[in-house]
Amino acid sequence: MIAQRVQSFGTTIFSEINTLAQQYNAVNLGQGAPDFASPPLVLAALEKALHTPHHQYAPGWGYPQLQEAVADHAKRFYSMNVDPTREVLITVGATEGIFSTMMGLINPGDEVIVFEPFYDSYVPSITMAGGVPRYIPLHPPEWQFDRDELKSLFSERTRAILLNTPHNPTGKIYTRDELEFIAELCQKHDVIAVTDEVYEHIVFDGCQHIRLATLPGMEKRTVTISSLGKTFTVTGWKIGWTIGTNPLVTGIFRARQFISFAVASVLQWAAIEILQAPDSYFVELQEIYWKKRDYLFHSLQETPLKPLLPQGGYFIMTDTSALNPENDRALAEYLIKEIGVACIPPSAFYSDAHRFLARHLARFSICKKDDTLHTAVERLKGLR
Ligand SMILES: Cc1ncc(COP(=O)(O)O)c(C=O)c1O
Repeated sequence: MIAQRVQSFGTTIFSEINTLAQQYNAVNLGQGAPDFASPPLVLAALEKALHTPHHQYAPGWGYPQLQEAVADHAKRFYSMNVDPTREVLITVGATEGIFSTMMGLINPGDEVIVFEPFYDSYVPSITMAGGVPRYIPLHPPEWQFDRDELKSLFSERTRAILLNTPHNPTGKIYTRDELEFIAELCQKHDVIAVTDEVYEHIVFDGCQHIRLATLPGMEKRTVTISSLGKTFTVTGWKIGWTIGTNPLVTGIFRARQFISFAVASVLQWAAIEILQAPDSYFVELQEIYWKKRDYLFHSLQETPLKPLLPQGGYFIMTDTSALNPENDRALAEYLIKEIGVACIPPSAFYSDAHRFLARHLARFSICKKDDTLHTAVERLKGLR
């Protein structure tokens, strides 16, 4: 018998959709994994790293040079002053950072507030730590939350709030005003904020990604999590980091050391150089994704799927109510089998109680070759 703590988990929606997409030869706009090559600067850094002697266990907190590169990146883009050796922990992707944060900072029975829809690893991470998720829905088309509802979720049982900006799957970027509201509640109730910022460099329309940790009073109570995967088109490398004050990151480290002990040494060594990419790299990255977003957004407008304009990230959410599907899963299956395009049914990103909110939603990835997007669009034009 498998343990109770994992009994409800099942298979991730990404595996399910990938299998089905393959079976029906569908163009896969499901999982957020680019189907194009990683940039030359990334491959060159890896090549160099291969010829270093760094192929044995790395230090538990990560190589000091990578901790420093992460701190420099925080200084360069967000004017944050981070102590590299005491406040930066290298992790196996953001996913392990999130899991270790929950294991290291949440006590059994502690409540963790989560915005819905959420990245699918959040809730299992909270529950495996013995925490209790409390949900606050984001409402389309702007993906705003009800401030009174959020306020009402804070109590003496609340230990943390977990938020993701730019947001998967909606593409929402939390505004300064929203972040200030959240910051005020965190300070009033002595709550830690955990922010997942893996899409930090993929923002559109001149929107600004703001780190909650940079707001007054938040530096000491925010754990900032990010990774290399999305920014440098190396989602398979799973190199991530967690930034926070030393007492918080020490707690996270204590859990992490017994989850993976250390992170892939050669990839860390490559990451040191990659994180120092010139400003032009980050500008170009935005331009590439912005164009893809525009192409898919405008093309989807000519289908019965009504796209909701994302401000950042890898995805476009669509309102499928014109097709009146039985639910989002049924529509995703229909699209794969009859139209030949795979998307993700977003109910996987909602709690049981709120799953109905996803009934008329479908999520499409933009992180694909122009050819892939074009083929998908041609097929979706057949949708009536
Ligand atoms: C919001 C969000 N957080 C975390 C991750 C995973 O990041 P990593 O691959 O660095 O573990 C993803 C990947 O899709 C994501 O969308």
